[in-house]
Amino acid sequence: MKTAIYPGSFDPVTLGHYDIIERSSKIFDKLIVGVLNNSAKSPLFSVEERVNMLKDVTSHFPNVEVQSFAGLLIDFVRSNDANVIVRGLRAITDFEYELQLAQMNRVIAPEIDTLFLTTNLKYAYLSSSMAKEVAMYGGDISSFLSPEIAEKVREKYAAQAGQRSE
Ligand code: PNS
Repeated sequence: MKTAIYPGSFDPVTLGHYDIIERSSKIFDKLIVGVLNNSAKSPLFSVEERVNMLKDVTSHFPNVEVQSFAGLLIDFVRSNDANVIVRGLRAITDFEYELQLAQMNRVIAPEIDTLFLTTNLKYAYLSSSMAKEVAMYGGDISSFLSPEIAEKVREKYAAQAGQRSE
């Protein structure tokens, strides 16, 4: 059985991430989406919220699981008996970091490969952080996030604005 890990911050999951999940779930017997639990990054959503949002949008894929992880990605991959890491590549600007990450992981764990999927052209410009920035200023985020995730982002910023005005 071929198991792959699709790791990321997913703060929050975008339509670009969803596209990679859908496509890689067809390549592997099992795909585990690994949500990085890293408090140093001060995410908009807690790790539990990010995991739950991913579970909601992937619930109709029978071979997709969502878990959080902390520490080294390679340890998470090994603990799940997986041997492939999936990453999406949007543009050449992603390449340098992704190459370094893949090479670093390969030195630490030579038995694990990184597989890059080129992002669907429709989402080549898209990132969680830009979607959040548009939402923060009240812009329309319906082209970037699924309707339920877009609603959660709007609620989050509305709650933050409410706290500031108290
Ligand atoms: O969606 P992101 O934030 O680009 O994902 C980055 C991620 C989670 C893949 C990367 O930061 C990661 O693997 N972090 C865990 C720590 C680790 O193993 N780092 C690589 C070796 S230095």
